[in-house]
Amino acid sequence: MESQRYACVDGEQLDTETAYRLIVGCVAPRPIAWITSVDDAGRVNAAPFSSYNYVATSPPMVAINIARRAVGGATKDTARNIERSRSFVVNVATEAHMELMHRCGQEYPPDVSEAEALGLPLLPSRHVAAPRIALSPVQMECRLDQIVKLGRGVNTLYIGEVVAFHLRDDVFDGHRVDSVRMRPIARLGGPFYAALGDIFERPMLQKPPGGEGWSG
Ligand SMILES: Cc1cc2nc3c(=O)[nH]c(=O)nc-3n(C[C@H](O)[C@H](O)[C@H](O)COP(=O)(O)O)c2cc1C
Repeated sequence: MESQRYACVDGEQLDTETAYRLIVGCVAPRPIAWITSVDDAGRVNAAPFSSYNYVATSPPMVAINIARRAVGGATKDTARNIERSRSFVVNVATEAHMELMHRCGQEYPPDVSEAEALGLPLLPSRHVAAPRIALSPVQMECRLDQIVKLGRGVNTLYIGEVVAFHLRDDVFDGHRVDSVRMRPIARLGGPFYAALGDIFERPMLQKPPGGEGWSG
């Protein structure tokens, strides 16, 4: 082990750009929430977010970190819509529609609907105003639970309770979601994406929360 060397970079005083570059390289791969939300006029906004994960199971909850815009520091449309409507939909981003999802990451003026501009096919939700993206095999309707302002004000964490899961029948057998068949796409550092690579199976070593699905 003697030949291994590490660079040590102190985190506390890092400028945002360097911190971003390092953290997105270190925390990878990240799942992508292709979020739909609506503004006060009912316009549908769609944008991808990879600073995202599930954070609770009772009830199911997800969290997304939305930064202020890098140039000018304005609030992103998704953040504003979530705060006003107190809801949103997470559409799972997959390999099949990577290009369209990626194009939703471009900055559109607030009065332009990405869904309309890119011709995204939509399906109505049951509990929230935002529609679902019909290209996605899994959509989660979310009600805003908490807003957590982080650090020096660049980032805000939006925690949402999943009030409905929509699971397409080619990826859901009534019991489990088949994440391999779902073919999720992940974000790496820089301009890179990744598909699922090798899949490994090992026995579960502990009861999962609630004990469901336990076969060990
Ligand atoms: C794959 C991908 C992942 C992204 N992840 C995030 C993220 O986690 N947080 C964030 O603030 N912006 C993220 N962005 C940038 C936003 O999608 C981008 O700022 C977009 O313009 C926001 O749109 P809106 O103003 O319609 O909400 C990501 C972009 C891409 C392409």
